[in-house]
Amino acid sequence: MVVSLLITSTNNNHSPLFDRGDFFQNMRTILFIVAISAFLFSCKKAEIENYKEWGFEKPSHFPEPHYKFENNTQTYDRFDLGRELFYDPILSLDSTISCAKCHAQTHGFADHNVNFSLGVNNTVGKRNSPALSNLAWYPNFMWDGGINHIETFSFAPITNPLEMHETMTNVVAKLNASAHYKEKFKKAYGSETVTDQKLLKALAQFMAMMISAESKYDNYVLGKTTFTSAEENGLQLFKTHCASCHTEPLTSSFGFANNGLDSDFTNDLGRGLVTQDPNDNGKFRIPSLRNVALTYPYMHDGRFFTLNQVLDHYSNGIVQSSTLATSLGTGFNFTTQEKQDLITFLNTLTDQNYLANPFLSEKKK
Ligand code: HEC
Ligand code: HEC
Repeated sequence: MVVSLLITSTNNNHSPLFDRGDFFQNMRTILFIVAISAFLFSCKKAEIENYKEWGFEKPSHFPEPHYKFENNTQTYDRFDLGRELFYDPILSLDSTISCAKCHAQTHGFADHNVNFSLGVNNTVGKRNSPALSNLAWYPNFMWDGGINHIETFSFAPITNPLEMHETMTNVVAKLNASAHYKEKFKKAYGSETVTDQKLLKALAQFMAMMISAESKYDNYVLGKTTFTSAEENGLQLFKTHCASCHTEPLTSSFGFANNGLDSDFTNDLGRGLVTQDPNDNGKFRIPSLRNVALTYPYMHDGRFFTLNQVLDHYSNGIVQSSTLATSLGTGFNFTTQEKQDLITFLNTLTDQNYLANPFLSEKKK
């Protein structure tokens, strides 16, 4: 725009009646426009630059991510749209429940202290809302691994009658009726028509950016800090007893295991529901332990409220059954000191930068 103005104004100045007054008038207008454009550009740039993690970047101590934005090239506008959708109850049937209602940033994106979350009309869910982080590394989602792609994922909570209880057709219609969203979809995906595909992809852009990699544990791994002797001892116990499933550095192998909670699985078959194989009954997707100090209650049904209870379980609460992971045996018989050290170590997985990252928070309007 500035360029075309420049051309028109120079053309005008070819006139034999060239007037210095006109010239300066034109120059002033041009300079004014240039200044305004530069100002607007710098505002947007400043906003982006403030996000020190902006742009997907693999933390150097992490393996390659599973999701690489194939067919959904990362852009700031797409991420920003995904963020707004994550915090907007418009995705639910009666516009009362957003994703964030059950996935609160201050709790590592788990729910606020409840074992089962409430969906639309206060219907009680059947499983505990898991904490969310490092989702680009997940090969599968849900406690039973029933969903395997981050770009199709959000279909599940939106349409689940126990969660948002909405239809994709309705959500798309609601968004298409919003001038604000039409504009945002246009910026993000080039056309203002909202489709379910674009909606799911935008949410995937936001979820893939939920990277937690700046805890004390991470800084220790990177050699930027040292552990106290209790933390160090806890880490060694963790490596011996836990890391075969809660594999470092993501703290999950993303495999499935029965960690000895029950011998009767009729309440929830877990992985068996997906594979229909009785050998998978009672197995659940191994959860990540990042920010675990804040993501209570624990396990697929939220049965434990404290890490102490979790360690009592692994110490001497293991329930025998045919699908129990053999590595758990009859429990680890930890001493009180060992439990304490393990908890001290688990606390190093808390990542304050993640929990307070303004770019993962609801945007101030
Ligand atoms: C009413 C509460 C509730 C709402 C609303 C909700 N979730 Fe969830 N979320 C859950 C529960 C419960 C699970 C575990 C479900 C299961 O395993 O069967 C879950 C699982 C997930 C997972 C998988 C995590 C893992 O460890 O595999 C992701 C990702 C996720 N939700 C993102 C979202 C997004 C995005 C939205 C909004 C579109 C959303 N959730 C809305 C409760 C909720
Ligand atoms: C054989 C694999 C295996 C081993 C070994 C193992 N876990 Fe787990 N862990 C799991 C599985 C599977 C779950 C989820 C079980 C469920 O909810 O039904 C889990 C859940 C947890 C949770 C709850 C997380 C949440 O967000 O709800 C914590 C905390 C935990 N484990 C800590 C540990 C610690 C500490 C150790 C070592 C003392 C350990 N685990 C050893 C497989 C394992």
